[in-house]
Amino acid sequence: MTVLLRVDASARLDRSITRQMADRFIDGWRTSEPDVQIVPRDVGLRPPSIVSEASIRAGFTPTEKRSQEMNDALAESMTLIDELRQADVLVLGVPLYNYGLPASLKAWIDQIVRPGETFSFDLKRGDFPIQSTLSGKSLVVLSSRGEFGFEPGGIRDGWNHMNPHLRTIATRLLGIAANDIYEIASEYQEFDDERHHRSREQALHDAAELGSRLAAARRAPCRNEEVPA
Ligand SMILES: Cc1cc2nc3c(=O)[nH]c(=O)nc-3n(C[C@H](O)[C@H](O)[C@H](O)COP(=O)(O)O)c2cc1C
Repeated sequence: MTVLLRVDASARLDRSITRQMADRFIDGWRTSEPDVQIVPRDVGLRPPSIVSEASIRAGFTPTEKRSQEMNDALAESMTLIDELRQADVLVLGVPLYNYGLPASLKAWIDQIVRPGETFSFDLKRGDFPIQSTLSGKSLVVLSSRGEFGFEPGGIRDGWNHMNPHLRTIATRLLGIAANDIYEIASEYQEFDDERHHRSREQALHDAAELGSRLAAARRAPCRNEEVPA
């Protein structure tokens, strides 16, 4: 059975387009795998703590030398890491906020990327001492933007710092292969016009289709060859 970790980062609830996209993605997945397990983590509604002096100090202290106070400082991080570890697919419903990640999602990332837990650090590796200890997961980024034109050659080319940031986190820190990353976006939300209507409907359709396609591919023997990114 596949485990999907669904992380919602929109601060909006009923009106949220990214939450609707994540719903559609999961509906699509269920058409191919009805008993898929969904692990919900709503960082938009309940943002994780920002890392602190205490949590960083505790995280860099060897496990056997940690005090009870240090373990307490890491408890939230351990819960979030346990959820991540068991997931086969990470589904992010993530709005573009001020041309970057919502602060709540960044707080979640800072809690799950931890030495000794999700990455190892070894200076013997030279200029790239960090290596993820995770592997084999897929990442689905379902995003919504108020504006438009972020594609190469578009009128806001280079302004979207969220998708490239998530790709770097995934490939450099979460052990996710570049061809296991899938991205869908709705645009024009702030214009509330026909362009928005079309973009949103297309994104919802694509999310359902991607869910169903990835679920079906997981049952096929050579999934990377059968599912173009
Ligand atoms: C705090 C905040 C910052 C935003 N910044 C941007 C932005 O920089 N660029 C953009 O295209 N849209 C921006 N938007 C619009 C959102 O991306 C858009 O409303 C999107 O649909 C939000 O996702 P949701 O519908 O799931 O809540 C911003 C919205 C908020 C609330």
